[in-house]
Amino acid sequence: MIENIKITATTKKEKYELLLQQIKSLVEGENDLIANLSNIASALKFGMNFFWIGFYFVKENELVLGPFQGTIACTRIKKGKGVCGTCWEQKKTMIVEDVEKFPGHIACSSLSRSEIVVPVFDKNNNVAMVLDVDSTKLSDFDETDKSFLEKIAEIIKNII
Ligand code: SME
Repeated sequence: MIENIKITATTKKEKYELLLQQIKSLVEGENDLIANLSNIASALKFGMNFFWIGFYFVKENELVLGPFQGTIACTRIKKGKGVCGTCWEQKKTMIVEDVEKFPGHIACSSLSRSEIVVPVFDKNNNVAMVLDVDSTKLSDFDETDKSFLEKIAEIIKNII
């Protein structure tokens, strides 16, 4: 009975802690970046039940869509544009509680209401890609998401 209560009461933090271990073992022993990012996207999508999760790579002067899980997304985003382009430009995590209130938000899906975008740095501390997560609920992301998604960005930094 107690075990059942624990299962239904699994918190966001507990889910992320399990996922972090899973992601560490997923990338261990595999050095192909696309294979690893694809599995990380899937682990996050199904582990956290996210609406959309994916990576945008910095390629020359724009972001280009990489591995993702969810509905079809825009393929290219300019530096400073939308939440992803702003994250790249400002080199910091962006939490947007209501995408309609974010000037220049790029609506890939009309269902998306809030989002978090985390920069992934390379070993020279340049932004190599951004990790974008979208939700159909308003204000769905907080400091717990920021803290764990930044830990995942650190894991990726070490396998780029
Ligand atoms: N919402 C993002 C664009 C990417 S899609 O949500 C997948 C933005 O404004 O940067």
